[in-house]
Amino acid sequence: MSNVIQEFSRFAHQYDRYNVIQAQVAKTLAERLPLGRYNTVLDIGCGSGEVFKNFQKKALLPKHFIALDSSKNMLDIHPEMKCITKVCADFNDKNFLDTLPLKHYDLLLSSSALQWSEDLDFTLEELSKLSNTFYAAIFTSGTFKTLHQVANINSPIYSAETLQKTISKYYSDVSFVLHHYTLAFDSVREMFQYIKKSGVSSGEKKLSYGQTKYLMENYPLEHLEFEVLFVEARN
Ligand SMILES: C[S@@+](CC[C@H](N)C(=O)[O-])C[C@H]1O[C@@H](n2cnc3c(N)ncnc32)[C@H](O)[C@@H]1O
Repeated sequence: MSNVIQEFSRFAHQYDRYNVIQAQVAKTLAERLPLGRYNTVLDIGCGSGEVFKNFQKKALLPKHFIALDSSKNMLDIHPEMKCITKVCADFNDKNFLDTLPLKHYDLLLSSSALQWSEDLDFTLEELSKLSNTFYAAIFTSGTFKTLHQVANINSPIYSAETLQKTISKYYSDVSFVLHHYTLAFDSVREMFQYIKKSGVSSGEKKLSYGQTKYLMENYPLEHLEFEVLFVEARN
């Protein structure tokens, strides 16, 4: 498994900062797709459409692009086109497959969303019924690693190892690559603001006043760390 490290500076424009990593992740995910014609595509946790925007640059427009998200507000800002169908559904719900307009897709995509699966086995098994080709990028517990170590808390999201093991149960041909990113900040206070707004991890919200103070005084880095597992899986 190769390790790629990409650094983002503290001077990135404020507006872009909150999704700078996710935007880069969606771009990399699209770049990894083999060229080809995909007639039916499903994007799980589509958000504001980073995946669709990058997909459009890389591949011919599909006949049907299904953009699924549990947040109506995010779906509202997803691009609209004749080929796009928006579906408001939660991949943790027992019946979420029933909400989909098609039962099978040429390609299943998901970027920066599946770390929120409450039951990884359930979500991945259900998703594997929908397509033989699955390309995903998933944040892992290596995200904010040093911060978690210093605060002595466990990451609320899955480790790369757990993700790989679970994905391997549902696909016969899998390959994984871990990418590491860093994002620089002027102060630990700014890092906390970022963590609150970025939607990447949520365990830090549970920190007590004392723990937060301790972290502010003892966090040894000038950046936050991110770890993302890129998945290519086929049946
Ligand atoms: C960090 S954003 C990533 C959005 C987009 N894929 C991108 O690459 O920019 C995560 C998205 O997953 C969605 N999401 C989180 N949990 C979900 C769930 N259980 N079911 C469906 N969507 C979910 C959120 O609403 C959000 O739009």
